Amino acid sequence: MSLTASVTDTGYRGAANPAPTLVNAWNEWDPLEEVVVGRADGACFDPAEPGCRPQIRGPRQPGATFPAGTKPTEVTDRANEELDNLVAVLESLGVTVRRPDVLDFSRSLRTPTFEVPTQYCSVCPRDVVITLGNQILEATMSRRARFFEYLPYRKLIREYWNRDPRVSWTAAPKPSMADDMYREEFWEYTLDERFARMHDFEFCVGQEEPVFDAADITRMGRDLFVQESMTTNRPGIAWLRRELEPRGFRVHAVHFPLDFFPSHLDCTFVPLRPGLVLTNPDRPIRDDEAAFFVDNGWEFLDAPEASCSNDEMPKYCQSSRWLSMNLLSVTPDTVICERSEVDLHRMLRGRGFEVITVPFRNVYEFGGSLHCATWDVRRTGGPEDYFTIADHMIAADH
Ligand code: NVA
Repeated sequence: MSLTASVTDTGYRGAANPAPTLVNAWNEWDPLEEVVVGRADGACFDPAEPGCRPQIRGPRQPGATFPAGTKPTEVTDRANEELDNLVAVLESLGVTVRRPDVLDFSRSLRTPTFEVPTQYCSVCPRDVVITLGNQILEATMSRRARFFEYLPYRKLIREYWNRDPRVSWTAAPKPSMADDMYREEFWEYTLDERFARMHDFEFCVGQEEPVFDAADITRMGRDLFVQESMTTNRPGIAWLRRELEPRGFRVHAVHFPLDFFPSHLDCTFVPLRPGLVLTNPDRPIRDDEAAFFVDNGWEFLDAPEASCSNDEMPKYCQSSRWLSMNLLSVTPDTVICERSEVDLHRMLRGRGFEVITVPFRNVYEFGGSLHCATWDVRRTGGPEDYFTIADHMIAADH
């Protein structure tokens, strides 16, 4: 498939048509023009369900149970203060910022195939929706409480679609999320069993229905990398391949065998600019997949230790300490990082990045950090091929 074909198929016109497409993003680092930042209003605690067993962090407290229902107002207010500050920082950099609607997340859901006592929140658009060239793609999602999480973004999506006829809008098929879609025994495995099964890549979601969260995808021009995880299965990746390869993308599955609870790629494998990926030293990419990057001239830069241990993360946060590396790129040499991650700031500055820091720890228990809480609608730039030297992975994973 030639790059020329991909340029035409995806609506990008480059120099021949300088009017920028309203929706346009091909990678994680090009200059950011428009972004959606999540909001915490009305957020609920993660309800227990087959795709999620929320845990209290820190020292064991006998008899303590994970809370349910709407989060306390003061907790939500603190998160909103940090989200609003991020909005102000982005606007000061000339980026247009949009915000989602708020749903009544405390409402239970009852569909023909599942019930769940509450929904979740609209803090993390990254998990739900992704820009792929001129296309807005809504993920299937993998958890019941997040089934309708596309709704807070629909008004914005319709606006983009109405304002620019070059914008394409696709919603992936919603899975049943019925009991038999999941493998609940996953939650019972001991650490030794997880170690023994690390190359099986079988998690809490089965392999029957296509399932993916958008945050399991990372973009590097015409190449998209999708993690097999608790939130994305092999049929989900096959669906992405069939949908996106006719549009000129190459879709690669990637695997991180030492991550026993993988979900979302943006604390594991974070492209910073052409040729450079921030990697998680606890979760190396599988050897054959590493070779594809190295053979194409890419460098892996291990993130330094996070500023706190897993036990020191906020009590109800379900993410790892590696939220430290969940940064947002504003340009290929400017990143926004969480304020406490001083070792990361130092390392990135040493590599020539301008590092802008913001407080964001009060957002952590709402599902993520700076990358999770944003959806980049438009970045300057077009489709590029950053993997021109070796294509052995493409042959191997088809
Ligand atoms: N589940 C991953 C990514 C979260 C954004 C982690 O906790 O490291």
